[in-house]
Amino acid sequence: MTDPKTPPKTFHVKSFGCQMNVYDGERMSEMLGARGMIAAAEGIDADLVVLNTCHIREKAAEKVYSDIGRLKREDGSRPMIAVAGCVAQAEGAEITRRTRSVDIVVGPQAYHRLPGLIDDALAGRAAVDTDMPEQSKFDALPARAKQGRPSAFLTVQEGCDKFCTYCVVPYTRGAEVSRTWTEINDEVRFLIDAGVKEITLLGQNVNAWSGEDDKGRAQGLDGLIRALDALPGLARIRYTTSHPNDMTEGLIRAHAEVEKLMPFLHLPVQSGSDRILKAMNRSHSRESYLRIIERVRTARPDIAMSGDFIVGFPGESDAEFEETLSIVREVAYSQCFSFKYSPRPGTPAAGMNGQVAPAVMDERLQRLQAAINADQLAFNRATVGKRTTILLERAGKHPGQIVGKSPWLQSVIVENTDARIGDLIEVDIVSAGPNSLGGVVTARQAA
Ligand code: SAH
Ligand code: SF4
Ligand code: F3S
Repeated sequence: MTDPKTPPKTFHVKSFGCQMNVYDGERMSEMLGARGMIAAAEGIDADLVVLNTCHIREKAAEKVYSDIGRLKREDGSRPMIAVAGCVAQAEGAEITRRTRSVDIVVGPQAYHRLPGLIDDALAGRAAVDTDMPEQSKFDALPARAKQGRPSAFLTVQEGCDKFCTYCVVPYTRGAEVSRTWTEINDEVRFLIDAGVKEITLLGQNVNAWSGEDDKGRAQGLDGLIRALDALPGLARIRYTTSHPNDMTEGLIRAHAEVEKLMPFLHLPVQSGSDRILKAMNRSHSRESYLRIIERVRTARPDIAMSGDFIVGFPGESDAEFEETLSIVREVAYSQCFSFKYSPRPGTPAAGMNGQVAPAVMDERLQRLQAAINADQLAFNRATVGKRTTILLERAGKHPGQIVGKSPWLQSVIVENTDARIGDLIEVDIVSAGPNSLGGVVTARQAA
């Protein structure tokens, strides 16, 4: 640090990993802002850098160490560095032993205590906090600040009790906890007042959300979605990530009945092989997964499906991998995330026999991604000719372009419009590429 005794005046938060980390990163920025600190555009110029890390795969976890190295300035000084997020939870004080450049380590359930940890670091005290306190961080965080963006994330559920054998999340995020009905509704109202048109409800298993409404009735995620649907000013509702076992009848029905609920479902399956699913402790089968999709498609025929896949789980044979390819063909996803299996310390799968050679994983991932990409392009092409509504979210690459999102989460580029970011406009989809669509504003809209 430049001067270890000077409290930081500027900060920079950098988030890696999932959308829940993005949400946490925003909340940390708001908290530091509420204490009078000013956001710096670049980490290297900031007095305090928060690296909000991800532990899901080895590459993600190692990234933090290269990032720390890059924060060294030409004069040899560096910002105060806080490691937050899932690496902080998983590695704790080990981080400060591995590198002396880290001043603060704070886990994902304790980041509301960051200001106190900054004081500890300034005073030369150990500043490591990986508690999972009884009192939720949400009770301690300051009120939300206006962001000026039309689409916002909102964490409603955290943690995971599923213990898939490859996954660190149950250890880094802790047990499943749902935020309260009132807390969520208040935050949504605030966001709507701030101009937000679309809310994505977040959770590691968001469809495991449960709570009581304001009349004391038990509710699931579908009940929450229906309540948000009734709020004027909000145009779109999404949720992610869902676990197949928590896809209740009520939630499936909501896809048929709730107008603001967008026709998109991210429902990870990981593998198409029952033997591998069992070894992963996924607690659903290929068949039960496919049946859920069938029911969702009956409720909402135009729904776009998305998924996550892991190739090269220990013991995965060529034939078992072929079953993954065949489930991809069967579902015809609109988009997917796919990963090479990464053994994570402390998880059961890391000690299993039959770890798959990296070259085999590479080859499988390539074949899987080729299949997924072909489906994605086909899905995009099938939207050409449709008239739909898009929510304008950001400026495009070229002058005059604005990028919006279709109901099916595709990026749609439009030109020649007076509409602004935050507007919902009607467009005709006229072209499709692998990653985006071209749209033309309809005459009705332009008038
Ligand atoms: N809760 C969600 C996903 C959480 S992690 C679910 O159950 O689906 C996001 C994705 O990372 C997972 O769906 C999985 O595909 C991938 N992933 C998790 N652990 C992994 C590991 N050890 N190696 C490779 N990919 C992993
Ligand atoms: Fe990880 Fe499985 Fe929980 Fe998803 S359901 S977060 S993959 S343990
Ligand atoms: Fe990564 Fe933690 Fe999210 S491990 S994927 S940041 S829950």
